[in-house]
This record gives sequence, C-alpha cells and structure tokens, in this order.
Amino acid sequence: MIRKDFGDVRGNDIFPYISRCTLDIMGATAMDQKFDSQRKKDTPYLRDVSKTCEIIQFRAVRPWLWPDFIFHLTLTGQKFKSLMTTLHNFTDSVIKKRKTMSPVLDNDTASGSVDEIYWHGKRRLAFLDLLLTAQQNPENNLTDADIREEVDTFMFEGHDTTSASLGWTTYLLGRHPQYQVKVHEELDRIFKGDKRRAVTTKDLSEMKYLEMCIKEALRLFPSVPYFSRKISTDLVLDETHTIPAGSNVVITLMPMHRNPTTFPDPETYLPDRFLSENAAKRHPMAYIPFSAGPRNCIGQKFALMEEKVILANLFRNFKVEALDSLDKITVMTEVVTRPKNGFRVRLIER
Ligand code: HEM
Repeated sequence: MIRKDFGDVRGNDIFPYISRCTLDIMGATAMDQKFDSQRKKDTPYLRDVSKTCEIIQFRAVRPWLWPDFIFHLTLTGQKFKSLMTTLHNFTDSVIKKRKTMSPVLDNDTASGSVDEIYWHGKRRLAFLDLLLTAQQNPENNLTDADIREEVDTFMFEGHDTTSASLGWTTYLLGRHPQYQVKVHEELDRIFKGDKRRAVTTKDLSEMKYLEMCIKEALRLFPSVPYFSRKISTDLVLDETHTIPAGSNVVITLMPMHRNPTTFPDPETYLPDRFLSENAAKRHPMAYIPFSAGPRNCIGQKFALMEEKVILANLFRNFKVEALDSLDKITVMTEVVTRPKNGFRVRLIER
C-alpha cells in the first residue's frame, strides 16, 4: 500500500500505514475477514483504540478516578463509556458476520471436532471459529459476552503491540544505516533480488539478523511498557524486604531492559546483543517483552513471523531514512509504547 514516492524531503509518518496493515492482518488471520482498512481514508476503530489508551493512562495516574462511580460521572468517564460502546459495536459486528459464515452453524459440522471442520470444511478455520465452535458445547458455558471479550483482546493485543514494534524497528533501522545495510544484505541473500515473491516459512527461519533487530527494538521500546500481577503468597526479596500476599506488583520493562549490568551501554541500539552467544549469557528473565509465566503472550511467535514478513517486504524494496533523531521523538508509554507524533521517514526505492 506504500507508494514508491512515499515521503519527500520532509518525510511522511509511516506509523498509520503500519497500524492499518497490522489491523488488516489480524482481521484476515484471526477473524478471516477483510477489513480493508489500508484502502480506506479513515479507520474509526484505530482512532478509538488510541483515544481509549490515552484515557486509561490518564485515569491510571489519578487515583481519585479509580472508583467507577466517580469516573463515570466525569466527562472523561462518559467519553470512555461511549468509546467502549463503539469498540464493542465493531467487535460485535465482526462476530456477527463470522457467525453467518461460520462452519459451526452448519449442521453437518456442528457436532464435529475442530480438526474435522478444518479438514472437511471449505473455509479456513480462524481463531474466532474456535471460539464459536467451543460455544456450541454447553459444557464450556461460553456466553456471547465471553466471546466478545476474547475477540477484543485479540484485536487489540494482536494489532497495536505489533504495529508499535514494527514502527520502532523501522525507525531505529532508519536511524542506523550500518545495521540496515546488514538487513538488506540478508534479504538479498534470501530473495536474490526478487522483490515480489511471497515470503515462505523457510525464508522466515533465515532472517536471523532481522529478528535480532526486532528484538533489540523491543528491548529499548517494549510495545507493552508494563504489566501487573497480584502476588498470591508472600514474596521474600531478602532478610528485610517481603512483599505481602495480595499486593499488586507492576513490572516496568523500560528500566528493566535498560539495566546497565545486564545490557552494557543500555541506551544504544545494538542488535548484536541478540546473537545467541550473547543472549545465552543473560538471565532468562532479564528480557521479557512478551511477559513470562503462564499468562505470557500467546501471540509472540505469530508476532515475530508477521513482523518479519512485513519488514522483509519493506526493506527488500526500500532504503528507509528516519528523519528525526531520538531526542525529537516524544515517547508515550500509554497501554502501548508509541511515538506521540509518529515516525517521519523517507523511502528510497532500491
Ligand atoms: C510485538 C508484539 C507483541 C507484544 C510485545 C506482546 C506483548 C504481550 C504481553 C507483555 C502480554 C502479557 C500482558 C500481561 O502479562 O499482563 C501479552 C498478552 C497477550 N497477547 Fe501479546 N504481544 C504481542 C503480539 C500479540 C499478538 C500478535 C497476539 C495475537 C495474535 C497477541 C495476543 C495476546 C493475548 C491473547 C494475550 C493475553 C494472554 C493471557 O492473558 O493469557 N499478542 N502480550
């Protein structure tokens, strides 16, 4: 969707293009639906997600707005409620549309296992079909609201986090031509100059350097800047410090990923940190952009594959120049780490 003449001397913000692309991918892969947002002028869903994140952050740092009954009395609370309605209407429409197409509504297949539907049904089995199939079994006790919640999580987690990571990787490579050249060399080796052919699974496994560049961008700018856990048992840190059971603990990734003991010269973008011999020297919990433990990100492998496909297509075709130095980029750590004013880039056809 990016034209050859993208970005003049003043550059163009590439971020909205990336967001629309990842939203379309989530629609196609998880919901098997064509959102076509890359062809549309305006994407209200993306706009509303962004406003919702702003409000969540606004509320998070104002404890007096935490009780629902107070928050909902404020103008911001009312705005939030109306945004929620719009976002839910969108996901409801996605579910409704799929229900009318879904193989689970077909009597021949409704009693079959997911595998049977996949193998015998003509339509591709999307994540949403798994939910709709599971709903057919009364033992699962899955309501429409439960399904909507899962679809909301997937739609949001699936596109916003990935577009942030793609944006930062593109930006950082655009600021570090010495690493971008290596990405170009790797892609040229894999595709032998072919700028059009589809990316295969084998190609993905060969994009080792590109993967290191993505991981290093996720270290400096983790898409999910923090997450929290409720401690279920006392957590003894040392002889004098214990976090009592029931406490909420917030894990903030930026300071963790920039700990100079684990990552020397922490502010510098150095993809080689992720050479396997270097990564092996670090504690496994020193770098956790996808969280860790039983509630970690279930989409991490998918995200890396998706990013490699998109970046391979971008860097196979273009040299990227990012026009603003890092001190000119205002980093917003809302629900997702994003640039306040996007990433101005210039693309030069290769
Ligand atoms: C670079 C991209 C991504 C990053 C950095 C990322 C990061 C994360 C993190 C940190 C969490 C855990 C939050 C917590 O512990 O509270 C999470 C959860 C989750 N992610 Fe991702 N994510 C990415 C892409 C994706 C994609 C593409 C999908 C879907 C295909 C996805 C689906 C989910 C889901 C469903 C959860 C909730 C899991 C649960 O609660 O058990 N994520 N993600």
